Amino acid sequence: MTPSTHPSTAIHVLFVTAEIAPWVKTGGLGDVSAALPPALARAGCEVRVLVPAYPALKAAFPQAQPLIEVPGLALRLPPCRILDAGPLADGARLLLLDSESRFARPGNPYQDPHGNGWPDNGLRFGLLSRVAHWLADNGNLVGWRTDVVHCNDWHAALVPAFRSFLGGGRPSIVTIHNLAFQGLFGPELLGELGLPGHAFRYDGVEFHGKLSFLKAGLQLAERVTTVSPNYAAEIQTPEFGAGLDALLRHRAEELSGILNGIDLNEWNPERDPHIAASYGLATLPRKALNKAALQRRLGLTVDPSVPLIGVVSRMTHQKGSDLIIQAAEDLLTLGYQLAILGAGDHRIEKAFSDLTHRHPHRVVTLIGYEESLAHQIEAGADMFLMPSLFEPCGLNQMYSLRYGTPPIVRRTGGLADTVTDTVPDSIAGQRATGFVFDEPTAGALVAAAARALDAWRQPELWRSLQERGMSKEFGWNDAALRYIEVYLEAMQA
Ligand code: ADP
Ligand code: GLC
Repeated sequence: MTPSTHPSTAIHVLFVTAEIAPWVKTGGLGDVSAALPPALARAGCEVRVLVPAYPALKAAFPQAQPLIEVPGLALRLPPCRILDAGPLADGARLLLLDSESRFARPGNPYQDPHGNGWPDNGLRFGLLSRVAHWLADNGNLVGWRTDVVHCNDWHAALVPAFRSFLGGGRPSIVTIHNLAFQGLFGPELLGELGLPGHAFRYDGVEFHGKLSFLKAGLQLAERVTTVSPNYAAEIQTPEFGAGLDALLRHRAEELSGILNGIDLNEWNPERDPHIAASYGLATLPRKALNKAALQRRLGLTVDPSVPLIGVVSRMTHQKGSDLIIQAAEDLLTLGYQLAILGAGDHRIEKAFSDLTHRHPHRVVTLIGYEESLAHQIEAGADMFLMPSLFEPCGLNQMYSLRYGTPPIVRRTGGLADTVTDTVPDSIAGQRATGFVFDEPTAGALVAAAARALDAWRQPELWRSLQERGMSKEFGWNDAALRYIEVYLEAMQA
């Protein structure tokens, strides 16, 4: 179903998010928020993206114009304003929620520069949710209307609670990018955000004695989505449900999984300004130039005959970083070099750094966040490793496929939806794209890496995996049409 492209009948979407790439990004949410709204606009929606006016965004959009003053909306929600930063790609527009006291800070959206969560995150994202609800009601003041509010992750998930308990607002969908982050706060926040006491109940915003932003959204939004079909099924089980599986089963009829796309302009080996040599299906041998450049840049032994595994990842429990550390010596014994970029838990960062210390020309770890090196690893590595313990969707495995760098992944969440294991059956059926293992153990990871090495040593087989991955259609257009269906359902609910 495609909406009419006539502006008055097009679906008007208020897309609410805490991150937007390239300016403010801690992970895939930033990428999705940059790419999905333009895809929705291309599919005929009128889209406004509402995101807090962090310093990076104010610096990037110095021409942003005041759009409207927002009055104080509760005891701890003083007046603020919304800036219009102008068009993003394809006609989606960017709105900045400007509150000096809440968002004019260093660090990332959630933490100070030392990695500690801001103590007032409940008020910061409570403000984001409350203002989104207010704007959905008051669009006429700025000559715009909202048909549906698209709330991303816990930071925006209180929007449906304001609609349920204060009235007004518009229907909403909540998209779960990661169930592990729920936005839990003390019950006193309820009054500070202007929610009535009776909202604090099991079928409202209460979760084990706390106010839970995400639970509120999952309970009260008209529709719930998550970012892959497999994760939508997994989160209905106790193993992956993070305590919310019963609620998600209860809402199974209104819950669906829509696989993320990737930004085909940003991640395109034929036109990637970050990499040493551009290449595509017809020029695949040029990929070797990127491997040599990466080995050189990182101080690895420069040798095309040494297989090179790349990793770009937050260093956390979710991403299976410990499995990589436990498997590292065995991977080296197999003959691999490792190029690792990431940041996160200090314990994990240190374990990776120690590994580099022990094997300086064979394992290189860069602790930090660097967009261009992420591209260089995707282009230069032979394989990409992503052994996540859970993975709502995952973008890097799709970038890897597009860069002819077959991924080695655990069979979980979106990884299972996007990578097809290389086994006799999938080779014969011309479906194989990577290497998939089941058990969350270093042994299973090493066994998959050994299979990958075996395939790498068979040039014809390897080339077929690369070509198949590079030919996959991972754009956003299909996802945008699926979201539109869900918007229509929410609007009719
Ligand atoms: P998640 O959102 O759970 O971290 P995704 O795979 O969805 O996982 O998205 C991660 C995004 O963040 C990708 O675009 C990836 O390239 C990027 N990324 C993660 N860590 C780093 C890093 N240290 N440096 C550069 N980019 C990174
Ligand atoms: C989350 C998930 C990741 C997903 C991303 C974008 O950060 O951990 O799997 O790809 O959101 O939806």
